[in-house]
Amino acid sequence: APVLAPNMSSCHLPLDFPTAEIPYDCCAPAAAYAPRLFRPNSSSTSSSSLRMRQPAHAADNNYAARLARAYMLMQALPPDDPRSFDQQANIHCAYCNTVYNQMFSSQVFQVHNSWLFFPFHRWYLYFHERILARLLGDDTFALPFWNYDHPDGASIPWLFSGSSAYAILSNALRDSSHEFPATVAIDFNVDTNLRPREDQVRENTNAMYRALIRDATTPESFFGWAYRHGDAPMPQGYGFGTVESQPHNSVHRWVGNRSAIGWKDMGSFYSAAHDPIFYAHHAQIDRLWELWKTMPGHKDIEDEDYKNAEFLFYNEEGELVRVKAGDASNATMLGYVYEEVEAPWMHAIP
Ligand code: C2O
Repeated sequence: APVLAPNMSSCHLPLDFPTAEIPYDCCAPAAAYAPRLFRPNSSSTSSSSLRMRQPAHAADNNYAARLARAYMLMQALPPDDPRSFDQQANIHCAYCNTVYNQMFSSQVFQVHNSWLFFPFHRWYLYFHERILARLLGDDTFALPFWNYDHPDGASIPWLFSGSSAYAILSNALRDSSHEFPATVAIDFNVDTNLRPREDQVRENTNAMYRALIRDATTPESFFGWAYRHGDAPMPQGYGFGTVESQPHNSVHRWVGNRSAIGWKDMGSFYSAAHDPIFYAHHAQIDRLWELWKTMPGHKDIEDEDYKNAEFLFYNEEGELVRVKAGDASNATMLGYVYEEVEAPWMHAIP
C-alpha cells in the first residue's frame, strides 16, 4: 500500500538531530479541516502561460531584485502563517527529520533515501513558487535553478552570494571558502578546494554523467528504493537514487558550513531550507529529473504505491491540500518549464 498523507496530529519533536543540537518544534500549523486532494489541471496550463525557470547565474538585476523582494515579503509574514519563510523551511525539517507518523501507522514519514525524493521536492517547490508569485502579485514568477552542471554555473550563483547586493538571498551559515567564485564540487566528499577550476569542472561533468546516464539506466536506480506504507526509513547510506546521492547530497554538504553542527544550514535536513539557495538547488535537481526523462527508455516509476503516495502542503491561499506523488510526473501540467541550456555531460565520454 502507498504511504498516505502524514498524520499531522501525530506531530512530535524531530528525530535524528545531531546530538549537540537542541531539537525544536517544526510541525506545520494544524488545519481544522480534512485537506482536499489537489490535482494538476491541464486546462489551466496553456503553453503561453507556462512559467519559465531560468539559470540563476544568468539572472539580471531586475530578476534578482524581484526574487529578493519576494523573499522579503515572505519573511515579513506572521510567524504562524504557513506561507512564512520559517514555516516554509520547517516543511523540510518535518518531512526529513520525521516529525510525522504515516497515516494509520506508527512508522515515521521520511521522504529521503527512497523513490519519494523527486516527487516530494517537486511539490514542495511548486507551492513555494506559487506563494512567492502570489506575494509579488506576478503569476508568471518562477524560481531560478542553480545550473552547476554547466561550466558557467559552477559556483554559488552571484545573486545568492554574500557579496551581492541582495543580502536576503545569501546566508552566513555556509562554507566561506566556497563562496562565489569557488568551483562547486559535485563529487565532493573530501576537500577539493585546491583543484584548478578546469579539473573540477571536468570531474563535475563526469559525476553528472555517472548519475544521469551510466548508473541510472532503470527507474529504480534513478529514483531510489521503494517506500511503502509501514516501511521504516532507510538507514543512512541506503535507498537513494543516483542523483539524490550526487549531485544532491554532495552539493548540500559543499554549501554548508563544515565548522557548524551538522554542516548547517545546507548540510542538514532540518536547517537546509533556511538557506534560500536550497530552492535553487532543488529546482536544478527537479530539472535533472526532466532531463533524465528525455533520454530513450527512461520513464517514471509506475508502481501504484509510488503514484498514490501522498503529501500535505499549504498552498498560496494558505489552504492545506493533499497531493499525490504520481501527479508530480508532468512539470508542464504544473505550469512550468526549464529554459533549455546545454548540458555538457549528456555527451560526455569520460
Ligand atoms: Cu530534502 Cu535537498 O533535500
